[in-house]
Amino acid sequence: MRMRRKKHLDERLAAVADWVYISDSEDRDFRSAVLQKDYLDLNHWFEKEQPLYLEIGCGKGRFAVEYAKKHPEHNLLAVEKSANVIVDAAETAAAEKLPNLRFLKCGAEYLERHLREKTVERIFLNFSCPFPKKSYASHRLTAPGFLQIYKRLLKDGGDIHQKTDNRQLFEFSIEQMSGFGMAFRGVSLDLHHSDFPENIMTEYESRFVALGQPIYRLEAYFPQQK
Ligand SMILES: C[S@@+](CC[C@H](N)C(=O)[O-])C[C@H]1O[C@@H](n2cnc3c(N)ncnc32)[C@H](O)[C@@H]1O
Repeated sequence: MRMRRKKHLDERLAAVADWVYISDSEDRDFRSAVLQKDYLDLNHWFEKEQPLYLEIGCGKGRFAVEYAKKHPEHNLLAVEKSANVIVDAAETAAAEKLPNLRFLKCGAEYLERHLREKTVERIFLNFSCPFPKKSYASHRLTAPGFLQIYKRLLKDGGDIHQKTDNRQLFEFSIEQMSGFGMAFRGVSLDLHHSDFPENIMTEYESRFVALGQPIYRLEAYFPQQK
């Protein structure tokens, strides 16, 4: 089911056009869309040329905004497929004039239309939709099709940081990632009762923590060949 578009959405998006790029690939088959490149000119779009980090499924951008403030030495591109929520995120970044945070409105399956191979240092997957039905498993952001995309985008030594409240999604992610040759570090089955030093809360995370639910976290990487 499609969400109804917010009122004045197009005007609001146009007002923050310097902060958010709207992919034109929506409603096209991603397999053909990614063959025709429309690469983002990141070195001009961000104010400084510096390491690129991605957040995929950024929602209203609470994590992205805080991360960009804490890490002015990184450029963060926050990706989200829903225009209804990315507009709020881009408005916050524009109001705060954050030089190292930009947004891309597109589904993760289209990322290779806009980003070059081996350009990303780290991918954050925060509270991705769990898609509990088996028939929707390929939509989970740690399904094999997405892992292949991430592998091509990540630089050698790059990694994926995932947080979720959903144990089934967490187990699924570990299974898929290890089947894909990835190794793990920084795994926690209860992040908020662990000694992890500087967690940046997301919008969904604050809701789950208020309900007393454990938060699962991992870092996954490709071991370097010797
Ligand atoms: C449960 S919300 C979590 C939002 C935010 N990360 C947080 O933790 O508060 C998941 C978000 O992922 C987005 N999403 C789901 N599938 C996606 C995809 N294939 N590509 C990009 N975004 C996606 C949804 O639109 C939604 O905004």
